[in-house]
Amino acid sequence: MSTMQAIEITQPGDPDVLKLTSRTIPKPGADEVLIKVAAAGVNRPDVFQRQGNYAPPPGASDLPGLEVAGELIDGDLGGNNPFGLRRGDAVCALLTGGGYAEYVVAPLAQCLPVPVGFSMIEAAALPENYFTVWSNVFDRGQLGHGEGGADESLLVQGGSSGIGVTAIQLAHTLGHRVFATAGNAEKCAACEKLGAIAINYRNQDFVEEVKRHTDGRGVDVILDMVAGDYVPRELNALAEGGRLVFIATLGGNKAGIDASLIMRRRLTVTGSTLRARSVAFKGAIAYQLHAKIWPLLESGRVRPVIHQVFPAAEAAKAHALMESSAHIGKIMLQW
Ligand SMILES: NC(=O)c1ccc[n+]([C@@H]2O[C@H](COP(=O)([O-])OP(=O)(O)OC[C@H]3O[C@@H](n4cnc5c(N)ncnc54)[C@H](OP(=O)(O)O)[C@@H]3O)[C@@H](O)[C@H]2O)c1
Repeated sequence: MSTMQAIEITQPGDPDVLKLTSRTIPKPGADEVLIKVAAAGVNRPDVFQRQGNYAPPPGASDLPGLEVAGELIDGDLGGNNPFGLRRGDAVCALLTGGGYAEYVVAPLAQCLPVPVGFSMIEAAALPENYFTVWSNVFDRGQLGHGEGGADESLLVQGGSSGIGVTAIQLAHTLGHRVFATAGNAEKCAACEKLGAIAINYRNQDFVEEVKRHTDGRGVDVILDMVAGDYVPRELNALAEGGRLVFIATLGGNKAGIDASLIMRRRLTVTGSTLRARSVAFKGAIAYQLHAKIWPLLESGRVRPVIHQVFPAAEAAKAHALMESSAHIGKIMLQW
């Protein structure tokens, strides 16, 4: 068999431009493996790609899909293989694209074993969010390693998003106090269930709430996907030595800031995007996740929050749900 089913973006536009199609099964190259996909995660960047606002990086598949879980069926396992993966193993993988398909090629360095006790759907919900949160909250944001010491706190903007849920779960489980903003009472309740102090941004001021709960000190790290007019307020919500980490600009790219506040309070403003980074960079994150987070998953202390699973052929419905922002946690596709 040389062909597979896949979901392609037929043209930029609304969810119904996603169509089931037939493609040639891709072939793995050096240091790459072929995965027979069981499940794929839907992420907001897939929506931006479908709308024509987020082109795949050079060399990436034109098919959407940044994460999958499935069976490793072929490939080059002879090089650097830190987790000792073999043909027949259940793996989950971070991709630069191509996940909405029955088969996908992934760099071996970006594959991890499916955590013991996890379904394929749960495992496919991990890579994009876990790599992003680890890289931004713990590496760039240095949560727990700044001026506030081991007890440092985190504010997550968009707490009910796939990314937000992961950030709350990991920071809370690792012993940090977590605040999370969300847009309605149901989302706030979900954030609280995961261990966060929730702030409904539609009727509460996150600066006031954070200050009220911290005796005026503020939080040490903010993970932000909104930016825009949130930025000056976020600088006010940070404790001395605090770090503001951008991963998206859903509320706009531009902001006016008080630079003297950054100097006086020794603040750091940073951010990153994951998709176009090197395989070596992503492999280093995979290694960290396996060492530090996989044990939390396998012991049952952290479990991904799955909002809804769609048959892959109904990817358009999955995108429409994501654009409604009614979901809490992950939206998944299943073959
Ligand atoms: N930098 C990176 O490497 C990286 C990697 C992955 C994802 N991301 C970004 O991280 C964000 C979250 O991704 P995800 O897949 O977890 O998405 P998601 O589940 O769809 O979450 C987005 C959430 O953002 C909140 N939101 C706030 N302002 C919004 C606005 N103006 N428009 C739409 N939603 C808004 C919504 O919750 P409320 O209803 O409560 O407002 C929504 O649930 C996305 O922007 C994505 O592009 C960045």
